[in-house]
Parts: sequence; structure tokens; C-alpha cells
Amino acid sequence: MTPDLSRRTFLSVAAGVVAGGVSACAGLPTIRPTLESDDRVSLSVDEFALNAGEKRAVYLSVPDRKYPLLLLEDEGGFTAVSTRCTHQGCGVKAAGDFLVCSCHGSTFDREGNVIRGPAPTALESFETTLEQGRIHVRMT
Ligand code: FES
Repeated sequence: MTPDLSRRTFLSVAAGVVAGGVSACAGLPTIRPTLESDDRVSLSVDEFALNAGEKRAVYLSVPDRKYPLLLLEDEGGFTAVSTRCTHQGCGVKAAGDFLVCSCHGSTFDREGNVIRGPAPTALESFETTLEQGRIHVRMT
């Protein structure tokens, strides 16, 4: 365990995973964003806020992608990461302030950085921009 992940926090995350779902993952809604012509998807800030609520996160279901993206809002803005684990490709789910893989327990922070392996690298991330009340996510 790295120093970044305190024992109490880790136990909290682990307990939620063992329980089969943590508060943050059980209730996250899935949004199908608008497809744009230039390889971007988008949704309105209002739609995000309405669905994300206090968790400030939603899954984005994007065509031709097996795994949804996770779109998160933090003080610094919006972050979009893949929910495909970089270890062996299982799905990761939001668990409190972390993203946890159900296969072998890799844990990522909200930006997709590895907190605990065996995942070798960060989750794939996607450029997000905010323009005229819409959140745009570039898929390439
Ligand atoms: S596939 Fe995610 S930790 Fe192994």
C-alpha cells in the first residue's frame, strides 16, 4: 500500500468492494451523450448536474466502446477516464474517491492514476472541455 492511500481509507474502499458495491458505484447513472461529428461526445452541464447529484460523477455510454467512460467533476473541472482496467481489461467502478477493479483489486484515483496495482499504468483518459454550457469529451 502506498502512503497516499491511508489504512482507514483503504479499508473503507475494500469493505465496499467486498460488500458488492459501494455507495458511489451503486447509484451512478449512465448517460448516453450526444455524438458530434468531430469525434467528440457532449452533454450539457445541466444534464450532468441533474444526474450526477452529490456524487459528481456519471457513466457515459459511448457507441463502439465496450466499457463506459466515467465523467467526474472536481474542483479543477471535469475528468473523463475509461473504466477498462489496464491490468487485464476488467471493468472498474467508482468506489468513494477511488476507482476499483473487481478482478484483482487495482485501485485508481479519480484522475485514473494507479494507487494500488497490479495495474501497470493509469486508466486511459480523455480530454474534456467546457464550452457554452456543454461538456465535450474528445474520444481520440
Ligand atoms: S484486471 Fe483489473 S486488477 Fe486485474
